[in-house]
Amino acid sequence: MNKRRYVVCGVSGRAITMWLKPIYEQFSDYAELVGMLDIDPLRFKICNKDLPGTANVPTYMPDEFDKMIEETKPDAVFVVSRDSFHAHYIIKSLEKDLDVITEKPMTTNMEDAVRVREAEKKSKGKVICTFNYRYNPQHRKIRELVLDGKIGRVTHVDLTWYIDIAHGSSYFNRWNRMRENSGSLSIHKASHHFDLVNWWIGSPAPTTVHAFGALNHYGPNGPFNPSKKDGRHCRECTERSKCAYKARWETRASAIKIKDDHLESFDEARGVLYTPEIYRPDMCIFDSEINIHDTIVANVRYANGVLLNYSANFSTPYEGYRLAINGTHGRIEAEEWGGMGSTAFPCPRATEHYVDYYPIFGSRERLWIKPGVGGHGGGDPCILEDVFLGVDPDRKYDILADSRDGLSAISIGDAVYKSIMEEKIIDLTEVMTH
Ligand SMILES: NC(=O)c1ccc[n+]([C@@H]2O[C@H](COP(=O)([O-])OP(=O)(O)OC[C@H]3O[C@@H](n4cnc5c(N)ncnc54)[C@H](O)[C@@H]3O)[C@@H](O)[C@H]2O)c1
Repeated sequence: MNKRRYVVCGVSGRAITMWLKPIYEQFSDYAELVGMLDIDPLRFKICNKDLPGTANVPTYMPDEFDKMIEETKPDAVFVVSRDSFHAHYIIKSLEKDLDVITEKPMTTNMEDAVRVREAEKKSKGKVICTFNYRYNPQHRKIRELVLDGKIGRVTHVDLTWYIDIAHGSSYFNRWNRMRENSGSLSIHKASHHFDLVNWWIGSPAPTTVHAFGALNHYGPNGPFNPSKKDGRHCRECTERSKCAYKARWETRASAIKIKDDHLESFDEARGVLYTPEIYRPDMCIFDSEINIHDTIVANVRYANGVLLNYSANFSTPYEGYRLAINGTHGRIEAEEWGGMGSTAFPCPRATEHYVDYYPIFGSRERLWIKPGVGGHGGGDPCILEDVFLGVDPDRKYDILADSRDGLSAISIGDAVYKSIMEEKIIDLTEVMTH
């Protein structure tokens, strides 16, 4: 069997755990890693340490992209770098007629998403956007209920997302806190949520967005800022024990590291924390340079008339979401709870997974969800198979996202940011023609 040849742009924590590890551990009969590119040479060492099989894989710096393609002759390119460089690597790959598998967000603004769409039209290559959240069994059940017509024509979606003190604050410790790096959390994080809504309701074009946003918890005016000072770093911060967000998980005697998938590869136990001049994952969450929001509310109208109201908070005691999808013939309700914040107290519904279906004139049906095995409630192994083996021919509906889905989610997220900043309603009609 001919193995498909892959290179990766951005040897991030995400790249290593989500994509490269499975190449070696599950899909070695189908896939081969032939090149790695990153701006930070330390990332190659971390990758070699985590995945010894990568020891002989050639490595390249960002200005060696063309050289990498020439020397390694890949079939496809994984783009898993810092978000603001996604568009660059996606477009360069498409210009070379290569397939692209990009992590969310496909780009950090709608203009770049349009550039990707136009580049794809001229290329033999195709773009996959890895919106893995779609594959979560609860999320698939919701899609199936809508597709089965259980609630009739969808009219309205009501989605509220909570990102807890650990997860939420981690974005403000890192590059994600700058609009120019991540597009803002309305893109970096909320594009997951907008994509879910888009997919659940059948992927109509979003046409109009209005939003408000604020920075309530982080930045210099955050209520738990021990003192107004810029440029502190958690690692050597003398006020660390006075910082409620750090002290929440740490005692004076034992400093327990806050861990999430973003920080994992910088674990002290592995002997490397970070390359300070390139990457600090412990910048102070109260710095004044932060130029994104931690509290967002948005209204979206779609071409088929569906209305969405959405909100996200990035400093809550526990994590999860509350969803309702209303239709002409019924209503779907779902929720999910968990997160590191909730470890201090029992989160009552954290272990139960179900979707409630209310026919418009009948009584409730509770549909219990059997969680799958693996990340995102069993969603991650499914998306891995679709990416490495091709889309499951037995699945009766589309689930693997493409560049149009990427454009759609990013356009909403970018319009949210622009609407907040410019205090106006943003029209997406033209953008969504691409
Ligand atoms: N789908 C999901 O659930 C999910 C989860 C986590 C992360 N992600 C995405 O994966 C990507 C990586 O996230 P992470 O948190 O692991 O990031 P990270 O900070 O660990 O890694 C970013 C990587 O990009 C590299 N980089 C920076 N500038 C570069 C450039 N110009 N060229 C090449 N490489 C460059 C950095 O050196 C680093 O290795 C992001 O786009 C993020 O949105 C997706």
